[in-house]
Amino acid sequence: LWAHVQQGPPDPILGLTEAYNKDTFPNKVNLGVGAYRDDEGKPHVLQCVTEAEKRLLDAHLNKEYASIQGPKDFRDASAKLALADADNALAEGRVTTVQSISGTGGLRVAGIFLAQFYNFPNKDRAIYLPTPTWSNHLPIFRACGIEPRTYSYYDKNTCGLDFKGMMQDLDKLENGSVVLLHACAQNPTGVDPTPEQWHEIATLIKQKNHLPVFDMAYQGFASGDYDKDAYAVRHFCEQGMLPFVIQSYSKNMGLYGERVGALNVVTTDPQQASAIESQLKIMIRALYSNPPIHGARIVATVLNDNDLHALLLKETHAMADRITSMRTRLVEELAKAGSKLDWSHIQRQIGMFCFSGLTEQEVQELISTYHIYLTKNGRISMAGVSSGNVEYLAHAMHAVTAH
Ligand code: LMR
Repeated sequence: LWAHVQQGPPDPILGLTEAYNKDTFPNKVNLGVGAYRDDEGKPHVLQCVTEAEKRLLDAHLNKEYASIQGPKDFRDASAKLALADADNALAEGRVTTVQSISGTGGLRVAGIFLAQFYNFPNKDRAIYLPTPTWSNHLPIFRACGIEPRTYSYYDKNTCGLDFKGMMQDLDKLENGSVVLLHACAQNPTGVDPTPEQWHEIATLIKQKNHLPVFDMAYQGFASGDYDKDAYAVRHFCEQGMLPFVIQSYSKNMGLYGERVGALNVVTTDPQQASAIESQLKIMIRALYSNPPIHGARIVATVLNDNDLHALLLKETHAMADRITSMRTRLVEELAKAGSKLDWSHIQRQIGMFCFSGLTEQEVQELISTYHIYLTKNGRISMAGVSSGNVEYLAHAMHAVTAH
């Protein structure tokens, strides 16, 4: 019956975790998936999350279904975290927010909505993604019947932003194109536009009437400051644009396995917001009926309590700081190991990832000889680097690059 079904390839990111788990080498290192580890290399549960869970347990809540769009206290708090008072959009009731199965689920629902309702200027319904982008963006949008295409983003020569190339490409697109932007801490490069560059990008996107879709998976992780990290999203709103904003609580609250996030659609008026919400509900009902409740309750409890919210900001800052200190250590250890190459981009890049510049062959060697797992595009999850493995990593990186 199923003889025609062929073995599919492993996922470029989560497949590495599978390979890592099978590896019996004692000093193996997983720098594939973007998941925060403490300095002991252990998964980290935030204190604000543990405290919220205690309160939830004490409240003896029932396990009834959530509404299709997710609980209101969660949605309101989530939208406020992303948009604050940008262009008064929330106060004017013109934002639709639905809970999503984290970032992936939010992007997928956004894609289904766009495929059904957006008046694409191109026949094959294209979404333009930065080069490079998160590997999962491609299959997510393809599955929605939207064709992923690219615009320039990363400059290999400077290990920084190809701002000129990006602006030229965005300018060349047909007016009204759908453009995906990483709100902050670009995955995989760790390279973000400066506020001034965001102003220019926003002006161009507005002039071209493109539809901005923000993937905001790392709010808080770029700078340790939630408002700073939402700068681009809020600036686009202030300029009168109507972005889609997809949030994830996997990284900033460490709620990876809870699969909690949100999709926000900024519209012109409450009637539009309500119509869009009604259509999103129809789509969600057919996909997974309604969202899981536990993660949303944790997020709502943390964001709606002053003390827990303050604790979250402190803890996110601490995670971002630890990653920054590991960037410095890695550069120092590479020099100590004898590397003569310029690794300064490791410190210039921000967020969870470093786009190391390692070639696919060098990555292969890191995996097979040193049991250090990372994606084949040379992306290192800095969140997995710790005092215990940074020296080993630097030695291995030097060994595979010192030709
Ligand atoms: C990553 O890029 O490693 C994370 O966003 C995790 C994932 O789901 O790929």
